[in-house]
Amino acid sequence: MKTKTLKINDFRKEFDKFLRDHLERLMVCSSFSSIINYTPLTGGKRLRPYLIALFSQAIGLPSELYMKLGVAVELFHSGSLIHDDLPAIDNDDFRRGKPSLHKAFDEASAILAGDFLMLYPVKVLQELTINEHLKFLLINEWIRTALSIIEGEYLDVTYEPSSNTKDVNRIHRLKTAELFGFCFSSPFICADRMEEAKKMKETGLRFGHIFQVLDDIKDKLQPIEILGKTPGKDEKLNRPSILRFMSPEEALNTSEKDFKTLLENIEYPEVCEGLKKLWKLIVKA
Ligand code: IPE
Ligand code: IPE
Ligand code: MG
Ligand code: MG
Ligand code: MG
Repeated sequence: MKTKTLKINDFRKEFDKFLRDHLERLMVCSSFSSIINYTPLTGGKRLRPYLIALFSQAIGLPSELYMKLGVAVELFHSGSLIHDDLPAIDNDDFRRGKPSLHKAFDEASAILAGDFLMLYPVKVLQELTINEHLKFLLINEWIRTALSIIEGEYLDVTYEPSSNTKDVNRIHRLKTAELFGFCFSSPFICADRMEEAKKMKETGLRFGHIFQVLDDIKDKLQPIEILGKTPGKDEKLNRPSILRFMSPEEALNTSEKDFKTLLENIEYPEVCEGLKKLWKLIVKA
């Protein structure tokens, strides 16, 4: 029997409502609450929660569980973007088509909202209703992932242009691909399917790498109206973009080939269908 593929637009509506309800229940003072809510509720493609939902549905996890996993990942991701936009990091005044948090409020608010959003997910994971041993493994994997991302951001801002792609690939893995590794593997950890979790983590890392290459291409080629953030920043800031080593056309062709090979590793047809549609969305948006 063929299972229906979850559509990203349908999922996004459902997820945004779930996220809004979740944020409404946060026990923080109302002025801090509006600062914390600003970036997570200012749009975003919701790719990471969607990927978690695709895999989770394929293996029959309950929606309450995968939506909460999605909330944890999306809030961390939003926090990391808030910090990424700060004057001391990428100094970008725009995010998701709106002023970045430090422009809409101020720098101190952006630092503290980022801190909150990057730490809070541990609490979300702690409250999941799964067996305690699996929760322990999941939180271990989460902490490792979160620390990798921060290290990746450090290496990104301190990057010294070099003549090989190895350093760039390592930075891309840490700052971006690790979170996709978690999205691909966490449903399998929750289902106590550790062999698959390991395999899917590798596939998620490959997906994340491709994703960052596409982000670098769009940074160079897309206008702010589509990008929702300031274009041309990688070149201006000397960031470790793959476009130091190849043309955008070459990078796009290689990524497309890598993406097709990656699909061969996924045995769930509905997940592959979802990913193929996602490819088109990521390339243009
Ligand atoms: C942007 O991620 C940050 C990178 C890792 C390149 P997304 O392109 O998924 O950003 P949103 O969530 O849609 O705003
Ligand atoms: C940001 O990478 C990755 C993290 C926030 C961890 P980028 O600096 O390339 O992301 P954008 O282009 O600003 O979204
Ligand atoms: Mg950056
Ligand atoms: Mg940036
Ligand atoms: Mg970028």
